Amino acid sequence: MKILPDTALTYDDVLLVPQYSAVDSRRTLSTRSFLTKKIVLQMPIVSANMDVVTESEMAITMSREGGIGMIHRFMTIAEQARQIDRVKKAESFIVDKPITMTEAHTVGDLKRVVDETGTGGILILDGNEKLIGIVTTRDLLFEEDDRKSAADVMTRPVHSAPPNTTLKDAERLLHEYRIEKLPLVDANGKIAGLVTLKDIMKITQFPMATKDSKGRLAVGAAVGVRDREMHRVESALAAGADCIVVDIAHGDSHLEIDMIKNIRKHFPDAQIIGGNVATADGTKRLIDAGADAVKVGVGPGSICITRIVAGSGVPQLTAVMDCAKAAESAGIPIIADGGIRQPGDVAKAIAAGAQTVMIGSMLAGTDESPGMIMTRRGHRYKASRGMASREANIDRNKKEGNDLTQEEIEEYVAEGVEAAVPYRGKAREVLTQLVGGLQSGMSYSGATSIEDFQKKAIFVRMTGAGLKESGPHDVEVLG
Ligand code: XMP
Repeated sequence: MKILPDTALTYDDVLLVPQYSAVDSRRTLSTRSFLTKKIVLQMPIVSANMDVVTESEMAITMSREGGIGMIHRFMTIAEQARQIDRVKKAESFIVDKPITMTEAHTVGDLKRVVDETGTGGILILDGNEKLIGIVTTRDLLFEEDDRKSAADVMTRPVHSAPPNTTLKDAERLLHEYRIEKLPLVDANGKIAGLVTLKDIMKITQFPMATKDSKGRLAVGAAVGVRDREMHRVESALAAGADCIVVDIAHGDSHLEIDMIKNIRKHFPDAQIIGGNVATADGTKRLIDAGADAVKVGVGPGSICITRIVAGSGVPQLTAVMDCAKAAESAGIPIIADGGIRQPGDVAKAIAAGAQTVMIGSMLAGTDESPGMIMTRRGHRYKASRGMASREANIDRNKKEGNDLTQEEIEEYVAEGVEAAVPYRGKAREVLTQLVGGLQSGMSYSGATSIEDFQKKAIFVRMTGAGLKESGPHDVEVLG
């Protein structure tokens, strides 16, 4: 047994010392950082691979805002692949398989398909599957005779473009022809895709978005450490996942290390995130095994009780500092995972050496997380829960077809709790506050980039009295 000499600290134990700043507007400060060795984020925030936080809807928002979401693993391999696929298709400016009908279909048929699919334009083909016209919702809007044929109401001729049309060319053609839909047609007159103005506008609306090399939104996928999970890795990568989170509570373990090595061996180009660890040695072991980023945090999470149950963990600021220092020479980024309760914590985590922060419960309360809004005594909530909570364990087993016996339920030693978090509206609003806090923290340290921030930041420890002074006090807070 030994006792380490230094006291370990967490976010509430310290403040960033204000320093001279030449920054004019904090909102213009760059928050560009590295998620992994190769993946760059404009917003250094990652949504947690928890079943109450990240499925496709959250991942789409995270990526559009310049961060990234990690799809959790508590679903079948096929379902996880579908979730990844949804993210990948969300921002594509080309619809791969547009809806097509024939000239013999009636207006009634067309209206039904529009209602069922929500599509705004149907491509009309002749008997040889060649494009001859297009019917848009506008063509159907005032058409009362449902027996008319598609040929009677369609717009023709149709402006089209070749399959390899670039985003820039598509924008130009949509503008030039004053149209909203541009079919892509190959040399044989067959449909190869459809570009819509709506999709293009969505892309230009999110200039910070995290994209893969094909221009699709980036997304990560969590996998477990058992051998059979290699199928999940293969499926997630095939569906387009940009990185794999090897998810285990105690990442400084042979199970984690073997899994990282196995993934690296079979998928040499995969971006692998290892974790969770809380020490310099643990970080080095994961880097040596082949991790492209290391997730740090044992027990800081809002729904974690690992430190209570197992008596194990390291206060998060010290853990991040130690791990970041250990990873520095290898150029491997650290993800500070868990325990972010307010925007200032993001600034502190990044100043301490993390490149990104992972957020669970703060995002679990938003519209984009899975689950319903509950109302209790006039306040709105959403559910959050630890992935090692009793309820999550029961659900997970149920999904795998195992109904646990009462004895099995009671034998499970939970390291997480089930909780309710205040409803927080759109994830974007939470993210804006978190990034705004980070930029303010950078500005108070006189820093213009994450790298500069990490060089310049000076922490001062504070007492309980300092912490009390830091929040609103001696007033009744109204809003
Ligand atoms: P926050 O504080 O953002 O933390 O809600 C999210 C992180 O908490 C971790 N996590 C757990 N840790 N028992 C734990 O000890 C659990 O049941 C549990 N579930 C999630 C995880 O690292 C997540 O990203």
